[in-house]
Amino acid sequence: MSILVTGATGFVGGYLVTDLLEHDYDVRALTRDREAGQERLDSRIEVREGDVLEPDTLGGVFEDVDVAFYLIHSLGIGDEFEERDKRAAQNFADAASEAGVDRVIYLGGLGETGPDLSPHLRSRREVEEVLRTGSYDLTSFRAAIIVGAGSASFEMVRQMVSRLPVMITPQWVRTPSQPIGIDDVTEYLRRAIETPETRGETLEIGGPEVLSYQEMMERTAATMGQRLYIIPVPVLSPKISVYWIDLVTDTPKHISHPLIEGLKNPVVVRDHLAEELLPMERTPFDDAVEKAIAAE
Ligand SMILES: NC(=O)c1ccc[n+]([C@@H]2O[C@H](COP(=O)([O-])OP(=O)(O)OC[C@H]3O[C@@H](n4cnc5c(N)ncnc54)[C@H](OP(=O)(O)O)[C@@H]3O)[C@@H](O)[C@H]2O)c1
Repeated sequence: MSILVTGATGFVGGYLVTDLLEHDYDVRALTRDREAGQERLDSRIEVREGDVLEPDTLGGVFEDVDVAFYLIHSLGIGDEFEERDKRAAQNFADAASEAGVDRVIYLGGLGETGPDLSPHLRSRREVEEVLRTGSYDLTSFRAAIIVGAGSASFEMVRQMVSRLPVMITPQWVRTPSQPIGIDDVTEYLRRAIETPETRGETLEIGGPEVLSYQEMMERTAATMGQRLYIIPVPVLSPKISVYWIDLVTDTPKHISHPLIEGLKNPVVVRDHLAEELLPMERTPFDDAVEKAIAAE
């Protein structure tokens, strides 16, 4: 079976292609820079150059592909990311449909839709809707923060914890979230290929524990052998916390700001179909953190 992984040079895609190779799949990767991709990726992977924002560059990319993973976002580019991500998904859906791809598997974000949903989480949901217009079967996964070395969102947590022993924070530290370890995410994504019942389904995935961001930071600190004091205050607005996190972490602001805006939204699994269709022992938060820190 031939698998196309877009976003293979990124965080989730990088772990996924390693896992797919270990399970003897033929893997093709799409990147906007073939030379950099070849340097970075295992030599068994066929690297194709193409840009989903430039449909003319996608010729032949989907040829003989059975399953294509969509693991792309344009967060780092600034305010226009919503429009760009919709256009990128539409170009991908059109090209994959035209080539007769059988299945597409997407990983987006958890979070209840509504007027309060942050632009980043709303955009992840819009991409899901656009991908659903293709003629293949779409399996759409939704996850909260993924814990692993190289995850932009987990890196923000790790840097805040390692640089600040005392934090005065806005109320968002109390928002519930359901972090998931990267090994569990790759297992879900790969097993979806092997599980026909997941065709056409939307699957919410999360780790075994629901935690507030405060608990996540405290437990990350404990795993790193540090003590952390968090004092949530009602007067600190989310806008101020954006500037404050900019000062403490070195995550580029075009990535950190949309992620921080989403901290007000609860991101918890409400639909348990994934656990039914793809039962697995999920990694406890502390173990996933320990592994991520060791890998860094
Ligand atoms: N990280 C998390 O905690 C998390 C949590 C929940 C869901 N997710 C979802 O997981 C997916 C992957 O996220 P990630 O954190 O792995 O992202 P990432 O590390 O930032 O990687 C993004 C990838 O997108 C590719 N890309 C961007 N624009 C492209 C374009 N125009 N054409 C082709 N490729 C393009 C890049 O490839 P090149 O630069 O090589 O072209 C890169 O490999 C996203 O859908 C995200 O919403 C992530």
